[in-house]
Amino acid sequence: MLIVGNWKTYIETVADAKRLYAAAKALARTAKVEVVVAPPTPFLALLASGTAEKVGLAAQDLSDSMEGPTTGEVPASMLAKVGVTYAIIGHSERRARGESDALVAEKVKRALAHGLTPIVCVGEWERDSEAQYLKQVRAQLAAVMAPLSQKERLSLVIAYEPVWAIGKSALEAITPADLNEMVLYIRKVLAEYLPGKGAERVRVIYGGSVDPTNIRMLAGGTGVDGFLPGRASTDAKAFAALVKALA
Ligand code: PGA
Repeated sequence: MLIVGNWKTYIETVADAKRLYAAAKALARTAKVEVVVAPPTPFLALLASGTAEKVGLAAQDLSDSMEGPTTGEVPASMLAKVGVTYAIIGHSERRARGESDALVAEKVKRALAHGLTPIVCVGEWERDSEAQYLKQVRAQLAAVMAPLSQKERLSLVIAYEPVWAIGKSALEAITPADLNEMVLYIRKVLAEYLPGKGAERVRVIYGGSVDPTNIRMLAGGTGVDGFLPGRASTDAKAFAALVKALA
């Protein structure tokens, strides 16, 4: 199982970032779960410095630009050089600010070119009775998968994050049955780009109001390979409970 703590912008001080990172490091040492945290950009280099820790570091976003005269951008090459190994790409909170499927696909290519593992977020804004939401998720996946080689496709992590379930209470998260259905659907779409058993090898994780009270239920029999918790990952105790529930 893979767990990626998305700190968003909840963590604002160096002291808090260091404390939370130290707690994640301790967890990563003992748990059988792969632990990754995604701090806000200003803390990345600071936390990565000089250590070969088991806990992975993810960027919450990256730029589609190269290094050079691009004021204000954070290119994949720079993130890789400071020790970042994963990048969350296409989070709905970025898409809500205008990020298109094409831009997400471009960022995925930039991340892969510099050895970062993309955690590609897909998910519908809302559910409708005509199942249009499936088309939306299919389009998000297709945009990312189409331009990549087989090897690159296999290296992706897909995070299914229905927007209606983000930042709510555990009771409003997806049900295990609906999650299972979506994981199967995502793998069906992936199989169109990955022949043979390839689609089964791509890690599919879930995010949206995951907390210590619902993680076990969402992990059991749903086919997910891990989770992308937001708010619950910013509390050391809650994050420890999440990791332990998966161990
Ligand atoms: P949440 O966020 O766990 O606070 O709902 C998840 C996410 O947006 O990645």
